[in-house]
Amino acid sequence: MKFLPGDKKYSFFNNIHIDIDLKSIIRVNHAGEMGACQIYRGQIFAAKLKNFSEETIDQLYEMLEQEIEHFLYFSEKIINYKVRPTLMSCFWKIGGFFIGFITAMINEYYAMACTEAVEEVIDIHYQKQIIQIQECIKNISDLDSISTINSFLKNFLKKIEQFRLNEIEHKKIAENHNKYVNTNKLLKLIKRTIKLISLVAIFVAKKI
Ligand SMILES: [Fe+2]
Ligand SMILES: [Fe+2]
Repeated sequence: MKFLPGDKKYSFFNNIHIDIDLKSIIRVNHAGEMGACQIYRGQIFAAKLKNFSEETIDQLYEMLEQEIEHFLYFSEKIINYKVRPTLMSCFWKIGGFFIGFITAMINEYYAMACTEAVEEVIDIHYQKQIIQIQECIKNISDLDSISTINSFLKNFLKKIEQFRLNEIEHKKIAENHNKYVNTNKLLKLIKRTIKLISLVAIFVAKKI
């Protein structure tokens, strides 16, 4: 069994404190990426029923593929480091699919407002984690004995930076599709509501 840097049992960290809870980070990211996959699956399901253009469906598939890559990365960490997944997995699975499906069933603009909302939240969420991990690396970098932890954190950081760039790309795709989101009141309201739901879901997944 492996232990994560920061765990009490992790040999390199017996006497060293790091200000970062990696288990919580892995748990919430795993949940978030699961939710993102489900949103795109729901959107694709509805997009086919509603005959969205082939180009839009292809884009949804491309975004889904990237979300699956993100999800698999955190799934591997969940397994390797014995991190308990969130107790709200069911909510993320069903809720994610439902939100994606319903918004896409209304029309493409609502589907893209949903994507924009979720990706905006994830972008900021990853941005905060990147700063946290960078800080953590800075604080431990002068200690030779913890080079394994350093390399773990650096690889982990690289992945989150890459994922964040993907999320920004998804956000841009949604923005390009959705020129009405800032002028239509209902679209604006839906976007705000989905942002709020995402923020609450992230908060909960960090804790449980
Ligand atoms: Fe993602
Ligand atoms: Fe994304």
